[in-house]
Amino acid sequence: MKKRLILDFKSMSISEVSSIKSGLLIGGCYEGKDPGRLINVINKASKGIINKLLKRGDHKGITGSSFSIPSLDGINSERLSLIGCGKKDHTKNTQEMIKIISNTIHAAKYSGTSNAYIVLPKLKSEDHEDKWIAYQIGMLAESICYIYEPKIGKSNTKKIKLKKITVAFVETKNKISDLKKSLLKGQITGQGMNTAKDLGNLPGNVCTPSFMAKEAKAAGRKYKNLTCKVLGEKEMSTLGMHCLLSVGQGSKEESKLITLNYKGSSKKETPFVLVGKGITFDTGGISLKPGNAMDEMKYDMCGAASVIGTLQVIAAMQLPINVVGVIAAAENMPGSQATKPGDVVKTLSGKTVEVLNTDAEGRLVLADALTYVERFNPKTVIDIATLTGACVVALGNYTSAVLSNDDNLAQEILNSGKKSGDRAWQLPLWDEYQKDIESNFADIANLGGRAGTITAACFLSRFSEKYIWAHLDIAGTAWVQGKMKGATGRPVPLLTEYLLNRLS
Ligand code: BES
Ligand code: MN
Ligand code: ZN
Repeated sequence: MKKRLILDFKSMSISEVSSIKSGLLIGGCYEGKDPGRLINVINKASKGIINKLLKRGDHKGITGSSFSIPSLDGINSERLSLIGCGKKDHTKNTQEMIKIISNTIHAAKYSGTSNAYIVLPKLKSEDHEDKWIAYQIGMLAESICYIYEPKIGKSNTKKIKLKKITVAFVETKNKISDLKKSLLKGQITGQGMNTAKDLGNLPGNVCTPSFMAKEAKAAGRKYKNLTCKVLGEKEMSTLGMHCLLSVGQGSKEESKLITLNYKGSSKKETPFVLVGKGITFDTGGISLKPGNAMDEMKYDMCGAASVIGTLQVIAAMQLPINVVGVIAAAENMPGSQATKPGDVVKTLSGKTVEVLNTDAEGRLVLADALTYVERFNPKTVIDIATLTGACVVALGNYTSAVLSNDDNLAQEILNSGKKSGDRAWQLPLWDEYQKDIESNFADIANLGGRAGTITAACFLSRFSEKYIWAHLDIAGTAWVQGKMKGATGRPVPLLTEYLLNRLS
């Protein structure tokens, strides 16, 4: 059972702040001459200590910095944390807001207290002038979900003591109903991200295609208006999805095509469709990958995980739209039955594919899933995939790639990324690149050319000609490497924002 952290909010006057009784008081501190109202109140209560520390240069209020003080006379809270908020009049973009908010949460999480008080500083942010309190509370709620302990793994993980955070605000222009709405949106989005993280972090021996199907079915039972349907290998074979099936045929795990169908609007309303790459482990197949960091290929189902996470968000919010999520799940293994380089397979669309490299398997499973979703007569289709190592070379770990057959859709996705702080950047899908994937022995080859991310998208575009479509390559953004290794839950925030903006 996962711990739930309580997040509450309270309106108070600025002079009450020094009398708050809590384990930790967290507040903002601006850069420059005027550190802000809160600091002035605390300074007065503590008989000038804070100003002394600030003058000495212990804390400069720079965005991204923070400063902790164990205890302070005149303040009823046991500890105090000051979060740098940058220049007071400077308008902050989403990325700067995220930095400040995550520093705030970080301070609360690692202070060792069970109850913390946050006094919200007024931060000027892009398009949230009036509703700044609601906006910050939403961001806090989403960010708090990061206080998250993986479901599986180490037997003696450190327990985080934090149980309750109270957000205090000193202005009452924002409507309480707006604050509640924003809090709920943040919480639900954060929980959707956690679902995606949990699934992503599970090892390949647990998270198999059948396991993903089981999880999706459970989500279908849990939420109103959400249903789940799973096709096995036999059914897919009857349909003619031989391209998808060719990927899993070297594995003893059965491939699955999982459909989550959310109906929040009338039957006649056509749905938004999300398609996720769900390779539960990618060894490369016969074109075997080198051993270095191969464990990370358990994350090759993060696209699928983000589809489940996003549908969970949509269903929990009961949005008045229809959304279909389709997951192409398979395990890519070498084996005596495995597809070999040079094999030609027939797709559901009827087009044939020459498999030059069995490690370019994501596009193979997606090709059939993209054809499959034509039956839903989609408004738009977005596929999400950890598709190419080349994407990590091009954009690194902070930015997902977008490629689309429709510039309006691409723009909407870019905007949703910017607004949610889950950013993406567009790469071209120009005709010239299409010839890179020509084959002498089939209609298309599964790789070619030098622009790996673009030619992979070119491959997908051959199977998404019948609708408005975009592809998100999340190879660099779905998980972090190193000491903090783990799934990020991206791009659940981007997808949620996109769908919220499409409510008519
Ligand atoms: N899942 C990988 C892409 C990947 C690699 C994502 C490393 C994140 C980190 C994908 O299936 C793959 O192996 N792609 C190949 C394609 C190539 C054979 C054309 C790649 O990128 O090397
Ligand atoms: Mn691969
Ligand atoms: Zn892969």
